[in-house]
Amino acid sequence: MPRRPPKKPPATLDLSGHLLRLADLPTPLDPASLFSSAAAPIELEVGSGKGMFLTAATVADASRNFLGIEVSGGYARMTAGKLAQAGASNGAIIHGDAMQLVCSLLPDRCVAGVHVYFPDPWWKARHRKRRILNPVFLRHAARILPEAGRLHIWTDVEEYFEEAVAATAATGLFGTPEEEAPGGPETPYRTHFERRTRLAGAPVWRAVFRRNPTPAPDGRVPRVVRDPADSGQSTAESED
Ligand SMILES: C[S@@+](CC[C@H](N)C(=O)[O-])C[C@H]1O[C@@H](n2cnc3c(N)ncnc32)[C@H](O)[C@@H]1O
Repeated sequence: MPRRPPKKPPATLDLSGHLLRLADLPTPLDPASLFSSAAAPIELEVGSGKGMFLTAATVADASRNFLGIEVSGGYARMTAGKLAQAGASNGAIIHGDAMQLVCSLLPDRCVAGVHVYFPDPWWKARHRKRRILNPVFLRHAARILPEAGRLHIWTDVEEYFEEAVAATAATGLFGTPEEEAPGGPETPYRTHFERRTRLAGAPVWRAVFRRNPTPAPDGRVPRVVRDPADSGQSTAESED
């Protein structure tokens, strides 16, 4: 199904407190420095789309900071608009590539949870390398989480789910996944894609992983490189 163009926030709305560009951020990036309440735990959402999770979560839980990363400039602006309209000082979105943010900018153990909801499946075989739930991303997701930190993976693509669960287990850095329940009557849908999928009567696969206490088996960190033929997204390359 083709996606509708993102709705633009009103031109008069000040997005400056909620919208950041990855290119403007320092390396390393202390994500706590992006929020007024720097001591609050941070939840990172990868691929925020229309911003339903980020906006609802910031309003529902003021004791946490919610940071999104979204590669589409239009969707990043749309999400920033929703955060600004909600007056959510604990919510911000970065416009940029999540591979770059997670693998190159964020320091160890800096977020309490990583949320990946309905990541693009990249159906064509030649595009598979763009899937965000790849071994390099998963290893860095473990690196930026503390012991028992959460990695949430939800998707409507069973084959991608099974592949991601196997790749997550293969890192050796997470425990056995637990199934997550859908929301209750008051907030039945966590994201726009979950809503769309369930209203169409299709199944959703959900799991949450907890970061193991064990350290990484070696200290080597794969690099992230840009593929010039690509559409602006990174590919992961192991140093091995
Ligand atoms: C299928 S949509 C799901 C959006 C939202 N999570 C939801 O469940 O409604 C996937 C989103 O991930 C974004 N995305 C894809 N690759 C990305 C990347 N490397 N970095 C950041 N965002 C990415 C896309 O632009 C898109 O908005």
